[in-house]
Amino acid sequence: MDQAIGVIDSGVGGLTVAHELMRQLPKERLIYLGDTARCPYGPRSKAEVQKFTFEMVDFLMNKNIKMLVIACNTATAFTLKALQEKLTIPVIGVIQPGARAAIKSTKNNRVGVIGTEGTVRSQAYTQALHSINENIHVNALACPLFVPMVEQGILSGPQAKEIVEESLQLFKLNNHQDTLILGCTHYPLIKDTIQEVIGMEVTVISSSEETARETSTTLDVHGLLFHGERIANHEFYTTGELDIFIKISKSIFQHSNLQTVSIEQAILN
Ligand code: DGL
Repeated sequence: MDQAIGVIDSGVGGLTVAHELMRQLPKERLIYLGDTARCPYGPRSKAEVQKFTFEMVDFLMNKNIKMLVIACNTATAFTLKALQEKLTIPVIGVIQPGARAAIKSTKNNRVGVIGTEGTVRSQAYTQALHSINENIHVNALACPLFVPMVEQGILSGPQAKEIVEESLQLFKLNNHQDTLILGCTHYPLIKDTIQEVIGMEVTVISSSEETARETSTTLDVHGLLFHGERIANHEFYTTGELDIFIKISKSIFQHSNLQTVSIEQAILN
């Protein structure tokens, strides 16, 4: 099927999922929308996250997408069920894939989750983990400083280290987890710093690989995979400043990948 896969996030975080989708499904076209102008979603109410997410989805549905990937944990926590009921195309989120990857990894059944206030408040990870294995001990922590830092393009260096250290110090000491889920798609952009602070003995999980695998399976099951020959071209949109969005895209995608991507500003209404 020639139509594109739609990918949404509150900002640049979902680009970590888009990157993995491009790697695993090189023939598939992506249309990505980041609502950078209204990021972060993490501290917002459920009603507000739903309203903004539905607006993003309308934008992509007007572009005739064949499947939707909610590449944002906060939006997944608050809108996945509603969107799966409302839309006629397949819809997946990032929480179930992240939980599955953590279950595969943990040996002591102690899993840490870090995410936005919204995601932690929703308890969506605890529910997803317990739906697979009730014996998993889950510790969740909101890290409200990470997303604004990443959206500013601060992805490494002393300032990033200081913020990550301050946020994770106590969490690290108290919980004895052997596996840590990055329960926000912005966090893989600071994964090296998080890994350094949490300790090399902890397996740090980003849901992007498992989400891309689920996308592939879902397309296959619904007969929606593209079977022809092509180099796929992708459309990326941001509701915010183009400069910073392009700068962060460059740090995620290799040059050759970016040549197949057009980046434009989007207006939602
Ligand atoms: N990247 C998003 C997530 O995975 C949300 C970040 C935010 O807007 O607070 O939760």
